[in-house]
Amino acid sequence: MHLQQAAARAGVLRREIERHNHAYYVLDAPTIPDAEYDKLFCELQALETEHPQLISTDSPTQRVGGKPLPEFSPVRHAVPMLSIRTETDTEPSGARAFDTRVRRELGLGEADPAVEYAVELKFDGLAINLRYEHGVLVQAATRGDGETGEDVTQNIRTVHRIPLRLHGCAPPVLEVRGEVFMSRPDFERYNAKQRALGRATLVNPRNGAAGSIRQLDPAMAAERPLSFYAYGLGEVRGWDLPATHSAVLDALAGCGMPVCEHRAVVQGADGLIAFHARIREARDALPFDIDGVVYKVNSLALQQRLGFVTREPRWAVAHKYPAEEALTTVEAIELQVGRTGAITPVARLAPVFVGGVTVTNATLHNEGEARRKDVRIGDTVIVRRAGDVIPEVVSVVIERRPMKDLVHPLHPPFALPKTCPVCRSAVECPEDEAIARCTGGLFCPAQRKGALLHFASRRAMDIEGLGDKLVDQLVDNAIVKTPADLYKLGLLAMANLERMAEKSAANILAAIEKSKTTTLARFIFALGIRNVGEATAKDLARHFGNLDAVMDADVDRLQQVPDVGPIVAASIARFFAEPHNVEVIEQLRAAGVSWSDGAPSAVANSPIAGKTFVLTGTLPTLTRDEAKDMIEVLGGKVAGSVSKKTDYVVAGAEAGSKLDKAQALGVTILDESQLRELLEK
Ligand code: IVH
Repeated sequence: MHLQQAAARAGVLRREIERHNHAYYVLDAPTIPDAEYDKLFCELQALETEHPQLISTDSPTQRVGGKPLPEFSPVRHAVPMLSIRTETDTEPSGARAFDTRVRRELGLGEADPAVEYAVELKFDGLAINLRYEHGVLVQAATRGDGETGEDVTQNIRTVHRIPLRLHGCAPPVLEVRGEVFMSRPDFERYNAKQRALGRATLVNPRNGAAGSIRQLDPAMAAERPLSFYAYGLGEVRGWDLPATHSAVLDALAGCGMPVCEHRAVVQGADGLIAFHARIREARDALPFDIDGVVYKVNSLALQQRLGFVTREPRWAVAHKYPAEEALTTVEAIELQVGRTGAITPVARLAPVFVGGVTVTNATLHNEGEARRKDVRIGDTVIVRRAGDVIPEVVSVVIERRPMKDLVHPLHPPFALPKTCPVCRSAVECPEDEAIARCTGGLFCPAQRKGALLHFASRRAMDIEGLGDKLVDQLVDNAIVKTPADLYKLGLLAMANLERMAEKSAANILAAIEKSKTTTLARFIFALGIRNVGEATAKDLARHFGNLDAVMDADVDRLQQVPDVGPIVAASIARFFAEPHNVEVIEQLRAAGVSWSDGAPSAVANSPIAGKTFVLTGTLPTLTRDEAKDMIEVLGGKVAGSVSKKTDYVVAGAEAGSKLDKAQALGVTILDESQLRELLEK
């Protein structure tokens, strides 16, 4: 394509892509299917590869992040980035005090009308100044000390919600200020992914956002899902300022800037109080953490008249909510061992009411965190609980550490033991991972319990009624060691368990029985192979079609599965290389657990797909297992007894009653060579 034509096409594509980006990321209302979007994106990339001179900084292809930086360059803010005064009185009186101050400063008397305020949320992330020149994003900087920040343009470009070019608005200079943050669902998703890869997780969404932006490698920043909301302006040249703050935000939204919908214009102190109360109710349902609400005098003219005290405007205040943090003491530090052996230090606390519930323990995340915070038994700590996240220890109030402990420390700094607190197996902590793990595998009761719960979970074998309490009893009384043992449980053993009525015991046994028929994908997922989630299990089932093929595959073959990389492949290979795991699988099969396969093409065309076989007697060359495997590979099922549903009976020497029954029912009978013939079709 000629350069001129290509340039025109690239322009069209960029506008089109950014329009879809805006719809998807800002309006949350996708306008085209992903595949269509990808096609546009690829076309633009191809054009830019062919004509590199066409690449511009505002091209959506430039969002992926460039080369790592040696350091951030300083940026002097054209207009200082101020902070807001925080009202710590969380009651309505806090809002009234602000309104009273504003009225006094403005010289308003009792008879004068109420002051109009723009009210919004106080986002909990990192303040950023976005500089647009002629409508194009040219620089993004952190707040720094308010005068000078750091140039984080490369990282900010990876935030899809931030437009690289303003929509229909191109003044010489327009600086937009706002907060970069990580939503809670994005935070959870990101951490789940990191855990699956055995990589370090983020401590909380705030650190996630700040850490991502202050990350020298933009490719790393690009992996972190960040959001942005605009809440104000910096330097402005050649742009007609509206008369009010709320109109400024409306105008920014009109230019494609993300502006939070939870905002309002209210009158006087009563309006502030009502908004404070309303957001307090809505708070837990918000997909991101907030730090309170912000009140701003709406008229820009009045803002100017009010001016600043030191570094804080007189026209704005942040109004907090009652603490989601509280003080309590650490009674013990215990170690929890998870399903995959991950060892998490947990602080047992003197019960404390925080964020609406009584908290008795809080996570210390991992050894690194526990040591960084230096939490010790007897310490007074700040615990925090926000939304539905696990309560965590924020920090130690060191002044309250008992004096004698300061001089002769009674409790040493936290250190992980060398052996698992549950099973005494060695603990390993790979250097590049924050997480220590027990190496005991299913020998470790804690991992065994976790593995059983996972095995029985809804998306795995779906055994209804097999919950924590029951698993605890089954494992603690050594009734169940492996998932295969579940299928050996009898009514007597079950009904004898504490607090177990005969009826519920029977229900659980029925649920266990029902779980015997499942799918290959569910079965693979149920095995609890590290890094193999539901999606990967499905991919494996689809790709290999049967379990033996997965078990036999080496790392290279495994990596041919879409989305399986070296780490996941290694986990799978390691799992099946462990004789104990193979034994459990054999036992499960022997207990009658069976599955419909993933049906790759070989199985789809197989003449025996879905047919039921019964093996009886000794075959001349094949062992029973070999015959069974050959049948199952092609999608056939092998059952233990002959019935009307049996399609074929494969009979060898000294076949007994099964052969008689097959003859009586008129079922097709094959010998080994006939079986081979059938399978070769
Ligand atoms: S306005 C002159 N509005 O709070 C006023 N700030 O202490 C400048 N923040 O680090 C700030 N949400 O990043 C404003 N709706 C909001 C805000 C907000 C969060 C942060 C801001 C800054 C700090 C100010």
